[in-house]
Amino acid sequence: MLIRMLRALPILGWVMLASCSADTEELGTPYAFNPPEHFPTPVYGLGEKSPSAYGFKLGKKLFYDRQLSSDGSVSCGSCHAQVHAFADHNTKLSMGVEGRLGIRNAPPVFNMAWHPAFMWDGGINHLEMVPVAPFTHPLEMNLTMAQVLQKVNQDSSYGFLAQQAFGTPQLQDHHLLKSLAQFMTLIVSSGSKYDMYLTTGKGLNALELKGLSLFRQHCSHCHSEPLLSDFSYRNNGLDSLSEDPGRAVITLDPADHGKFKVPSLRNAELTYPYMHDGRFMTLEQAIGHYRFPQATPNLDPSLSAGIPLSDQDIEALVAFIKSTTDETLISDTRWME
Ligand code: HEC
Ligand code: HEC
Repeated sequence: MLIRMLRALPILGWVMLASCSADTEELGTPYAFNPPEHFPTPVYGLGEKSPSAYGFKLGKKLFYDRQLSSDGSVSCGSCHAQVHAFADHNTKLSMGVEGRLGIRNAPPVFNMAWHPAFMWDGGINHLEMVPVAPFTHPLEMNLTMAQVLQKVNQDSSYGFLAQQAFGTPQLQDHHLLKSLAQFMTLIVSSGSKYDMYLTTGKGLNALELKGLSLFRQHCSHCHSEPLLSDFSYRNNGLDSLSEDPGRAVITLDPADHGKFKVPSLRNAELTYPYMHDGRFMTLEQAIGHYRFPQATPNLDPSLSAGIPLSDQDIEALVAFIKSTTDETLISDTRWME
């Protein structure tokens, strides 16, 4: 009996493989969404349907398609560049169609499945709704969703992926949004030295460990581990009166004026310049600012006396932040244009 079962096993394996269509065959690695074990539970699931390789590829094609902007010059990837951990190309404010400058610095796009809300002010609370904002913003891609759809449906190079991913050559809004969300969800960054340290207790040198210890003392109640953000909205004392109302744009509550979503500091070595308006070029400047935050009514109480940091402390904090740089994030060809 046992022998018969053992013999049957390889055959069963073959039958299972053969019964997979081309689509499902590609569903597993490398397109499966595998939350790292040392991360919390993600906020965004991919819905009842597990991700499909074709949905991912469609999302990627959309992400890098410059035709989906009014002058054909800008794609999502223009402002969210892989070499910069999917943040912008060193510009203070993002640059959209016809060189138009936006009002904020483009944040990096990775580990999006853990963000409860998006944008510096948290104005969008579902990953699938995010693309509507850049597609239609006059300072970004400057189209209507109807125009985006029309461009995609008139481009025959989308036909195959559309058919495979959604069973139709005529895509609708929700197909676009779902596949872009799928592409972004799979951009997970968890391959840094810091991650190695979290999972094995090894991998950080003495300076990085000193930085981590300072970080846990002074920073991690906002930039919480392991994602290095608690995703709350805080005023960290950049201005006595913030030009950008930040969270108050959404809540209309004066108590939220000048509060911004705490950014993840993972890969921050690559995402310069820093803060919602890109005012600081270097990590040393961004961290140095915490010594003397501006007095302002909404300043986070934990910063009211400033954070006492010596130059050596700042050097150690920078070393720690650099230990979160994930080389695989910027070299993984799955996400490459
Ligand atoms: C012109 C530059 C530009 C383009 C093009 C652009 N973005 Fe962005 N993106 C930004 C800026 C700036 C923000 C922050 C906006 C804010 O806070 O108001 C942002 C925010 C985001 C966020 C939220 C990140 C977070 O941490 O909250 C996601 C996700 C995102 N963009 C995805 C996309 C996708 C998908 C596209 C293409 C459909 C796209 N972006 C096109 C500049 C751009
Ligand atoms: C009270 C909460 C809070 C504390 C404590 C805090 N931060 Fe921040 N941090 C923020 C917020 C909010 C922002 C974004 C502010 C903005 O852009 O207006 C930010 C931005 C940053 C940035 C820029 C990141 C980017 O992508 O633009 C760096 C770097 C940074 N913090 C490092 C630190 C370090 C290091 C410490 C500890 C010494 C620290 N922070 C303590 C809330 C905090």
